[in-house]
Formats: sequence, C-alpha cells, structure tokens
Amino acid sequence: SFEVALARSCMTLTVPAGRTILDVVREAGVDMPSSCEQGACGTCLATVIEGEPDHQDVYLNDAEKRSGTKIMTCVSRAKSARLVLDL
Ligand code: FES
Repeated sequence: SFEVALARSCMTLTVPAGRTILDVVREAGVDMPSSCEQGACGTCLATVIEGEPDHQDVYLNDAEKRSGTKIMTCVSRAKSARLVLDL
C-alpha cells in the first residue's frame, strides 16, 4: 500500500493493493472524472506535487512519465511511500 495526500482537499488516504487511487479518492468524497479506467483516455489525470509515480498507463508519453508530474489515477500507483496530488 501507499499514501496519497490530497493537497487541496487536505486529506491523506491509504491506497491498498488491489484498489486504485481513483477509487480511494472517490470514496473519500472527492469528485474525479473517469472514462476508460484502463489508463488509455486521459480523463482521470491528476497533477503530482511530490513523490514518484509508478506509471501503468498508455496515455502519457515517455517524457511525461519521466517528468513525474502527472498521473493517471485509474491505473497508476506509487514507487514512493507517499504521493501528494493537486486534488
Ligand atoms: Fe481513462 Fe484513467 S479513466 S485513463
């Protein structure tokens, strides 16, 4: 599992194995749009403020993935223990 801190919502959530960031964020009452939920469409994009994403999507290009500033919340996870997202 890893932690996701939502900077604008002032919440810290735990994302366990087998659940998505998108799921956990929505369950906490934060409105997040999604469409494909397979990492392909770009709808569920969030901005990463801190931490290292573990990109599992096919939407961001290699340069975007390397920059670590965006994450597709429906499929991607974290390499660091904690991500801070601009949500
Ligand atoms: Fe399509 Fe996440 S909902 S990339």
